Amino acid sequence: MTDAPAIEVDGVSLTYPGRPAVAALEGTSLTVERGAFVSLVGPSGCGKSTLLKVLAGLARPDAGTARVGGQDTTGSAGLAAYMPQRDLLLPWRRSLGNAVLGAELAGVPVATARTQARALLERFGLDGFERAWPAELSGGMRQRLALLRTFLTPRDVLLLDEPFGALDALTRREMQEWLQEVWREDGRSVLLVTHDIEEALVLSDAIYVMSARPGRIVRRIEVDLPRPRGALDTTSTRFGALKAQVIEALSAGR
Ligand SMILES: Nc1ncnc2c1ncn2[C@@H]1O[C@H](COP(=O)(O)OP(=O)(O)OP(=O)(O)O)[C@@H](O)[C@H]1O
Ligand SMILES: [Mg+2]
Repeated sequence: MTDAPAIEVDGVSLTYPGRPAVAALEGTSLTVERGAFVSLVGPSGCGKSTLLKVLAGLARPDAGTARVGGQDTTGSAGLAAYMPQRDLLLPWRRSLGNAVLGAELAGVPVATARTQARALLERFGLDGFERAWPAELSGGMRQRLALLRTFLTPRDVLLLDEPFGALDALTRREMQEWLQEVWREDGRSVLLVTHDIEEALVLSDAIYVMSARPGRIVRRIEVDLPRPRGALDTTSTRFGALKAQVIEALSAGR
């Protein structure tokens, strides 16, 4: 165990080569404290997924450092459990086989991972579907399965890239409440990318707002709302004031 923050990004810049080259990140810095739930919001194409890829060890920054649990992520994939923006379920594996993939890759024995996955199927709303193929699942179920896979990856830090991207408003709200509960029981650190300001406010201890591409951090906003937070809390004055701060920071970064 280390005392280092869960995530430390310091002055990260990344340009994708090509014609034209695309500067995705420029001097981006942020910190996720251990056990905290932190969100990252910003306009489409500003580099949020790129930042998560850097933290997942799948993209190499041109400058700056990114650390997970004190360890440099450059060239070392797998320090954090990562849920990519597209769910990337393997069509030839049944639900249970997909659920254990991250754990398997991290070296957990298959039988152990399967036992752990079975114990969580109900919690993730997938009870009775362990033998289903991904194509037989609804969009929400696929996302829950991808989340289950991420949760089963034995890492202290979770990177979630728009986990509820494709859902209707009501299902999304249910999933947020559910994620909030699961996270409170789980106690790991989370960095969540989302477009949905209310989602960020309901779930997070702090929100980072990114500017338009190349993405840099415009502002960190502490979300000091009491937990647990339900649907009704979104109507409070404090919630409205925080939401206004996020919107203001977003427009300042355009
Ligand atoms: N592999 C790649 N090669 C070249 N350019 C890329 C690559 N991946 C992303 N980009 C470009 O980098 C920029 C940032 O992309 P990124 O996916 O990080 O944005 P994002 O903030 O996650 O957007 P969204 O909210 O739409 O998911 C975009 O202009 C994108 O076109
Ligand atoms: Mg993205």
